[in-house]
This record gives sequence, C-alpha cells and structure tokens, in this order.
Amino acid sequence: MTVHIESKKEDIAPRVLMPGDPNRAHYIASKYLKDAKLVNRVRGELAYTGTYKDVPVTIFSSGMGIGSMGIYSYELFNDYDVEKIIRIGTAGSYKEDLKVYDIVVADSAYSNTCYDEEAGIENIDTINSSFELNSTIIDTAALKNIKVTTGRLHTSLAFYTESKDYTKYTDLGCVAVEMEAYALLFNAKKFKKQATAIVTISDNLITHEEINSEERERKLDEMIMLALESIIKN
Ligand code: HPA
Repeated sequence: MTVHIESKKEDIAPRVLMPGDPNRAHYIASKYLKDAKLVNRVRGELAYTGTYKDVPVTIFSSGMGIGSMGIYSYELFNDYDVEKIIRIGTAGSYKEDLKVYDIVVADSAYSNTCYDEEAGIENIDTINSSFELNSTIIDTAALKNIKVTTGRLHTSLAFYTESKDYTKYTDLGCVAVEMEAYALLFNAKKFKKQATAIVTISDNLITHEEINSEERERKLDEMIMLALESIIKN
C-alpha cells in the first residue's frame, strides 16, 4: 500500500494501461479483461487487474492533469514494480489536418510547467516516449489496419485558456494538447521504465470540430484494443 493506492503489491501487474477516467477503466476491464478484479478505489480512482490473452494487465485510472498522473505513475513504478505504462486518452488537435478520431502515438511530450524543477530534475521540457513501446504499437497498428500518426504532445496545466494562439507550441513541434503524458514520461525517465501515450483526437482547436458520442465509443475501442495488444507483447 502507498499513500494513494490500497492494492497489494501482487495485485498490480507489471503491465498497466492508464485511461484518465475511472469509468473508462471499468469499461475496459469489463469488456476486455478476463477475471478482472477491482484492486483500488481510493479517491474514486479505479484499478482492475485481470488477463488479456492470458497476460496479466492492470487498468488504472490516472485522474486528470499532471498532478494526478504524477502521483499514480510514480507510485506504480516505484512501489509496485510496474515495468510499462501506456496512457490512453483524448487530446485537442493544434493542426488543421490532424482531425477528430485520428489516433496519435506520442513520440514525446512537452510541458512548460515547473514540475521538473519541483520533482527534482531540472530543465527537461521535452521527454521522449519509450522507443520500444512505440515500435511495438506502430507494428501492431499496421497488423490490425489501424491508422496512427506519431507526434509530440503538449501537456498543459490549464484546460481553460484565454489565448487562442497555439503557435508557441506548434513551433516547438507539438501537434496536440492533453494534460497527463508529460508526468508519465517524467516518471518513466526517472525510474528507467517504459512509457508512452496513445491519444484519440476529440476536438480540433483550429477548426472547432468535435466528436459525437456514438463515434467516440467505437473509435476509443480501436485505441484501447491497440494499447492492449501492444502492452502484452515482449
Ligand atoms: N486541452 C487539454 N486537454 C484536452 C483537450 C484540450 O483542448 N482536449 C482533450 N484533452
């Protein structure tokens, strides 16, 4: 047990998928895992461990934002000996041609917060994802005929912003914005573990296109399946 997780050490698998939303963790576990068992409910963050194609996998909700993802990914890597984490979530597109429902595999995440300084590693604004995990995801996507692109995510602190000028982020190579990937990659780097993020574009900040609820489910299923197939390899 840690300050924020009540699970027994043996109840968390070395391979973890992290959606932001606890309801989505429940949805994934009930739809895809065999013998799923609820292993965490502290603060409403739900974790389920079961097997996917006979490989133990834990689905653990991260909550929203760098702060929450920072806590859970730290404790999973440090206290539960987790080896690989894939975040699965949604992001807002900064590019006209990166459309809603497109799936982005994060090659890196950028953040201009002071999280790095506070957490003890200074001046790392951009952190790369695991090359091995990304290669597996890209190969798996090709095998399953799922179209993905790779790109840098901007991990923001504020969801509601006054400025609509995103060029300072696109100039740094960011293609889409979300709120958790940086904290996950930061902790993976710190503990020398594997991590990456796969996001589905839910809204386009340039064209203001948004996804509807029906399509949302189907497309998110494609991303979930890609993440599950990839996390069980190697
Ligand atoms: N901002 C931050 N996070 C997001 C967004 C956004 O516009 N869309 C989906 N996740």
